[in-house]
Amino acid sequence: MRRNFVAGNWKMNGSLESANALVQALVSSVGSNPSADVIICPPFIHLQGVAALVKGSGVSLGAQDLSDQEAGAFTGEVSGAMLKDVGCDYVIIGHSERRTLYGEDDALVSKKFVHALAEGLTPILCVGESLEERESGAMEAVIARQIDAVLSAAGVQALCDSVIAYEPVWAIGTGMTATPEQAQEVHAFIRGRIAAVDAAAAEGVRILYGGSANAANAATLFGQPDIDGGLIGGASLKAEDFLTICAAAA
Ligand code: PGA
Repeated sequence: MRRNFVAGNWKMNGSLESANALVQALVSSVGSNPSADVIICPPFIHLQGVAALVKGSGVSLGAQDLSDQEAGAFTGEVSGAMLKDVGCDYVIIGHSERRTLYGEDDALVSKKFVHALAEGLTPILCVGESLEERESGAMEAVIARQIDAVLSAAGVQALCDSVIAYEPVWAIGTGMTATPEQAQEVHAFIRGRIAAVDAAAAEGVRILYGGSANAANAATLFGQPDIDGGLIGGASLKAEDFLTICAAAA
């Protein structure tokens, strides 16, 4: 049985004060032994402080991105080893905002995925189609391309212990959530794509839904057979909402 997984993607939000308050509220309510994996992904600048606050709790730490490089003259970049060093266990890779706003292509995303694994981080790989791609019937081809790039760079075994987040680009931050049926259809497609290569890997990989998931719709989404939790943006910035979503995944 796959254990459910909820990750909060704070994106570029929060002050030192609000980050601390949010984490303290989460840690005291989640407790030390939650029945789903609970991960928060603050901006790089807050990672070290948040790491101290979540230590010993049932909340784990993830970053929102990492460099594809190990070390050296790469101004502005943060390596996987540095993330591990400050207490991260997870890292989001290939978020659609990185792909569309910062030009990250499948090759770079795959390199980052391999780098994360090499440093002992669990990648949360984001895939998803734009509205135009969905409407033109290219959705499955786009998602297959994004998955296959990582499969061929990292190998199918790497996916067993990784997490995939299906995030339709048209649903991110728009309030337009995919219906549970729409999401389930794509999740089943992703699992099937992996199963065609390795049935055990497909059974083990957690596939999260992301895109305007909130306290009101989380339980119905997570009730679908191939939805193993969520990658939560806006609603992860409000302790009460995020805790309701974690409870729905438990
Ligand atoms: P959202 O963002 O929940 O605000 O739509 C999800 C994400 O981008 O990870």
